[in-house]
Amino acid sequence: MKSLVVYYSRTNTTRKLAEKIASETNADIEEIRPKVNYQGKLGYIRGGKDAMSEKIIDLEEMAYDPKDYDVVYVGGPVWASKAANPLISYLNNNDFNNVKFFLTAGKSGFESSFKQMEKYSKKPLKTLQLTTKEVKQDNYDLKSFIS
Ligand SMILES: Cc1cc2nc3c(=O)[nH]c(=O)nc-3n(C[C@H](O)[C@H](O)[C@H](O)COP(=O)(O)O)c2cc1C
Repeated sequence: MKSLVVYYSRTNTTRKLAEKIASETNADIEEIRPKVNYQGKLGYIRGGKDAMSEKIIDLEEMAYDPKDYDVVYVGGPVWASKAANPLISYLNNNDFNNVKFFLTAGKSGFESSFKQMEKYSKKPLKTLQLTTKEVKQDNYDLKSFIS
């Protein structure tokens, strides 16, 4: 089974989880790099605004073609109860054989974000939702998500 992990992470929480998933599944891994600057305080405000308007944004070119993989794990943070804009933009731009979604959030907004990700791609085989705290404390089990 050839797997790819694609993630967006503004403050490295989802990055940590993505790297763990990639190492456990022997997957290639690639970061989504937005052309929009979401760093810092202004970036936080822009992220909230863009999330609410479901804006599709420009991304830097990706190295891997998701069509070359049996399954692609796509993940990132929840912003304003939506999937962060780099995520929906990536999903919108690409075709997949199979997808699995993973999200991190402070505490809420998972369900609406998974729905939105599905709208921009397809029904995922599986989903995984973890709080920022659970990721930071390594308090999770990937077994059923990666099997
Ligand atoms: C613009 C913005 C909006 C956010 N909205 C939510 C939210 O609706 N619900 C929530 O639980 N966390 C929210 N968060 C917190 C992030 O989802 C959480 O910190 C996440 O783990 C960050 O992942 P990252 O470090 O990979 O970027 C928001 C963060 C940002 C920057």
